Amino acid sequence: MRKQLSLVCFLAVAQLLFAQKKPITTPVYKDAKAAINTRIADLLQRMTLEEKAGQLNQLNGGVFTGPAVNDAGQMGKVQMVREGKIGSFLNVTGVKETRNIQKVAIEESRLGIPILFAFDVIHGYKTIFPIPLAEACSWDLPQIEINSGIAAKEAAAAGLHWTFAPMCDISNDPRWGRVMEGAGEDTYYGSLVAAARVKGLQGNLDDVSHILSSVKHFAAYGAVEAGREYNNVDVSRTALWNKYLPPYKAAVDAGAATVMNSFNVVDGVPASASHFLVEEVLKKKWGFKGLVVSDWGSFGEIIPHGYAVDEKDAAYKAISAGSMMDMESKVLVKYLPQLVKEGKLTMKQVDDAVSRVLYFKFKLGLFDDPYRFSDEARETATLFSAANRAEALKAARSSIVLLKNQNNILPLKKTSRIALVGYYAKSKEDMFDFWIANGSANDAVSVQEGLQARFGKGSVDYTPGYKADASTDDRLVSDAVASASNADVVIAVVGISGKLAGEERSLANINIAEGQVRLLKALQQTGKPIIVLVNSGRPMVLTQIQDLAGAIVQCWILGTETGNAVTDILTGAYNPSGKTVMSFPYAVGQIPVYYNHFNTNRPAPETGDGAWKSRYRDIPNNPLYPFGYGLSYTTFDYSGLQLSNAQMDKNGKVTVSVSVKNSGSYDGEEVVQLYIRDITASVVRPVKELKGFRKIWLKAGDSETVSFVLSGKDLSFYDGDGNVKLEPGKFKIFVGGDSKNTLEVPFELK
Ligand code: GLC
Repeated sequence: MRKQLSLVCFLAVAQLLFAQKKPITTPVYKDAKAAINTRIADLLQRMTLEEKAGQLNQLNGGVFTGPAVNDAGQMGKVQMVREGKIGSFLNVTGVKETRNIQKVAIEESRLGIPILFAFDVIHGYKTIFPIPLAEACSWDLPQIEINSGIAAKEAAAAGLHWTFAPMCDISNDPRWGRVMEGAGEDTYYGSLVAAARVKGLQGNLDDVSHILSSVKHFAAYGAVEAGREYNNVDVSRTALWNKYLPPYKAAVDAGAATVMNSFNVVDGVPASASHFLVEEVLKKKWGFKGLVVSDWGSFGEIIPHGYAVDEKDAAYKAISAGSMMDMESKVLVKYLPQLVKEGKLTMKQVDDAVSRVLYFKFKLGLFDDPYRFSDEARETATLFSAANRAEALKAARSSIVLLKNQNNILPLKKTSRIALVGYYAKSKEDMFDFWIANGSANDAVSVQEGLQARFGKGSVDYTPGYKADASTDDRLVSDAVASASNADVVIAVVGISGKLAGEERSLANINIAEGQVRLLKALQQTGKPIIVLVNSGRPMVLTQIQDLAGAIVQCWILGTETGNAVTDILTGAYNPSGKTVMSFPYAVGQIPVYYNHFNTNRPAPETGDGAWKSRYRDIPNNPLYPFGYGLSYTTFDYSGLQLSNAQMDKNGKVTVSVSVKNSGSYDGEEVVQLYIRDITASVVRPVKELKGFRKIWLKAGDSETVSFVLSGKDLSFYDGDGNVKLEPGKFKIFVGGDSKNTLEVPFELK
């Protein structure tokens, strides 16, 4: 007995000594000196299956300041954070809000895994920039990168880690409200813009001024049939590879951290559950190592698509396809543990997804300092700063496209008495689109304010001319006519409210409203010069007003600095340089109409008899305004297009050069555009494809020789399996100031 007692005592003492001597070790995942992958591995082995499912669960947030944090407020989301069931919130913004709920995750959950905060910062957070479609019309990639950088800086200062941008969907259908979010109809240019936006948003992700980007909507969401939101997509494989996929790839190659599944099917399979898109293309072919997040509810919507029988099946199919984080459908947090326990999914599949979420939480430094994005002083100093607004003004001015300027009615004379007509000239809320983020319409400068600041209130007489819904009446028209009769010039703002631009804003009718047409006709009767400004988040059909105005200026949706940018253009303080990146249809029935179309078996002649050719009997085939078109207050003449060599082999290069002369009386910028055509190939190729551009500035009277170098890469295309093809044969090379009026020269690839 005695011996046993002494042994027990000995063991107890030994354990005590050991316990005291054993240093208190920090878990590796909390060790800032350890490599990220080591920390991920350590954390994964500590997590329960339920906690892993929680990391893949992204919910729409709410208000977490005040009493909500201390009770089961927010539908129990605070409690879910305590239980490790939420990995990310979207729509929780501001330092106070994000910090409050982050504190719950860090201090009250078992493992203290930080939350990722995401928000749709599509074209600015507080300082609102031109919509992406407008911004793309600047053809100024450095400025586009700056714009995204400022959006990221403001968002990061507001406690955010992630935005769901850039949208990289190529679209030819202005009935679709979301054309405003992209970079227009061209794949080559859309790819460059996508990369610039990723770089602007992310930088190197090594500071608190940049945030995770999200390449969306993967893939081909811009091809929704008839421009109807959430509608079917059915594109050929060659179209998928050549037209729709390259901008997503460019964004991934630029280092995009995350990719968002699109709502649509591709080849009959919902993108969220498409093994072809996510595993084969994105991960294997493109080597994407980041995080794939669903679109809102899109995992659960695999069911109404008719591809999953229930939520558990939807969860299984999404993860099996290689998708990862579940935005708002909650199917993973409900069924993932069960699917693993039933052996339907492997822990490796789960760990691969969770490790990508954890990677970015480590990469952003959130484990080491969960509140590093939560600095109220920085938030106050950064948001809506004068410097940010100055960049927004530069961006807005260069986004504006001058479509018509008969007899040089513009720029305005300094002493003009202006009749400013149009509800949208004053209504700030109609100047903004669905993606206004945390911007405030009241912060914006309206067209009326911009003009009054420049010409004086007494020189700008405003009448609404039509109502908020764009309808008009006799009184509104007569008031506008009376105002016009006392003025030197009429500036009429028409178009549609920005509230009809963005998600779930498809329109079957994109003509200028009848009320506005009636108003313009009445104003034309006054004989005064008429300048029309078009406020819209898409190319509208302007055919009906084409002859009702001496000048037409496409102003898109320009954001905070609208009025100042428009005034700079109208006064000539800035010579318009924008070129449209989307064709303006001649009629709705013509849609889709775009420049890089196939030739067809019976191309209609530009003029003359179109019998038995591909044409309409009642309208022209050409759009009202083509891709790449935009006027300046000066003119640019192109001459002397020549090639360094008229042919080359697959490994060769050819230098294309052209002389551009500013033949007018204003200094100005020109976007010199280079197109090719592969005349004959193993899959038919478009009649023109943009393969280069240069935005140049020329003093009045000056000339410049602009050169481009083309190599085999520029002449290649994809076959239906995504293989790059470069085929010998005849080509044409075009250079000009838009996609229609070009010089051309033959070329041959041997
Ligand atoms: C929306 C949009 C997507 C957006 C997301 C979060 O449904 O399709 O572009 O980022 O939900 O708001």
